[in-house]
Amino acid sequence: MADIYVNAKKKLGKINREIYGQFSEHLGRCIYSGIYVGEDSQIPNRNGMRTDVVEALKQIRVPVLRWPGGCFADEYHWKDGIGPKEKRKKMINTHWGGTIEDNSFGTHEFMELCRQLGCKTYINGNMGSGTVQEMSEWVEYMTFEGTSPMADWRRKNGQEDIWKVDYFGVGNENWGCGGNMRAEYYADEYRRYQTYVRNYGSKIQKIACGANADDYNWTRKVMEIAGNYMDGLSLHYYTLPNEKWEHKGSATEFEEADYYRTLKKTYYMEELIQRHGGIMDSYDPQKRVGLMIDEWGTWYDVEPGTNPGFLYQQNTMRDAMVAAINLNLFNRHCDRVKMANIAQMVNVLQAMILTEGDAMVLTPTYYVFDLYQCHQGAELLESSVNCGEIETELGTIPGITQSASFGEDGKVHITIANLSADRGEAVTVHFGEDMPAELSVEMICGGMRDKNTFEEPDCVKKVVWKEGRMEGNCVVLELPACCVVHLECLV
Ligand code: AHR
Repeated sequence: MADIYVNAKKKLGKINREIYGQFSEHLGRCIYSGIYVGEDSQIPNRNGMRTDVVEALKQIRVPVLRWPGGCFADEYHWKDGIGPKEKRKKMINTHWGGTIEDNSFGTHEFMELCRQLGCKTYINGNMGSGTVQEMSEWVEYMTFEGTSPMADWRRKNGQEDIWKVDYFGVGNENWGCGGNMRAEYYADEYRRYQTYVRNYGSKIQKIACGANADDYNWTRKVMEIAGNYMDGLSLHYYTLPNEKWEHKGSATEFEEADYYRTLKKTYYMEELIQRHGGIMDSYDPQKRVGLMIDEWGTWYDVEPGTNPGFLYQQNTMRDAMVAAINLNLFNRHCDRVKMANIAQMVNVLQAMILTEGDAMVLTPTYYVFDLYQCHQGAELLESSVNCGEIETELGTIPGITQSASFGEDGKVHITIANLSADRGEAVTVHFGEDMPAELSVEMICGGMRDKNTFEEPDCVKKVVWKEGRMEGNCVVLELPACCVVHLECLV
């Protein structure tokens, strides 16, 4: 038995749509073949973008897309990716499998993808191996309306109008793949580079490279030295079932102990948000600077037989639970968490979509984003849960995760996951003095290892669930094991 309490009168702040953001890197089959197939492909496409993938992503209302990396960003030279495709320079993607990058997907193609998706743009600039001038000229190329060398070049390449750059990241993981910098050095360099990320038209939100997981010193130093020059500070934290990078664990073959350990490690995100947020509070009590969790998700061993540099992994109900926990946490900390970008959108790590040739599969994680889209732009509501705990090898976790919001549609939305792998749970949702009406519930549910494959693409899918019932001021849900639910009602 568990009780969830929702106070529909207590609005705690806006849940930024960007919390439901995505990340797409030039890595493995994310961009090439997963999203972009080129105009001459047999696979149905619009201006080179797979129609099936774009249409599926439109259903979950992707609010913002981060590109081109990741570690790739600090090796990327944007001028190689513009102009006639046959003339574009080829390079080796040294980070990710040593493949040849032919630069056929560049700035114009990224902007076209975002146009098709109807989402905001988040470009990650190259500080690790690029110059201030290069970064500055990229911004000029994309956003300067008048006559200038870069703006004229853009027009010559077929783009008359400026594009809107909503977010611009100054480097990625500069404590590691982005240059192995110390926090003090990065912070000084950040101040310099960001100076030349000019606002020619509408304001670009500038994002500084943030910490690797629990590197609190990084956050402290970067906030102290450069906090006044940024709109957001990133944070990267991945959920690995095991500590060892060389043996992270299989995405699909795991035991119950692995399942619970993975969920426990996911909950570490809450401590990270609280502690990084606490440090940010001491430099930025007004919470002007957003915590941008622009890489998160599960990271397993690659699927057997696939290129280790491509980070291709399957996706099960365990991933759905990881997504449900994290997204509920981000909602509940929306006073500081202003954006989050799951890694990554297609065919890489905890993907929404897997592709093989012209076939496409939607993962359990996709359906969690589908169920949770109700929270985009909504007002967070006060909520709490009283439930039993589950023992894991690393300590306990709550059996239920929840968050609630008042949506743009005037309804109350509650997302709940029963984390137990094998036990159903009777959940009573209490609305205090308010009376719920017009209840509807949708969910995904399955065994912890259930997944969608190309042979069986609909093993996990969203269903309308008729079994929720209203009892006075409460809604009662007899939840099955391992499920994620979206409850919607008027109060
Ligand atoms: O998402 C894969 C990689 O993980 C990114 O390129 C990098 O930023 C992080 O280490």
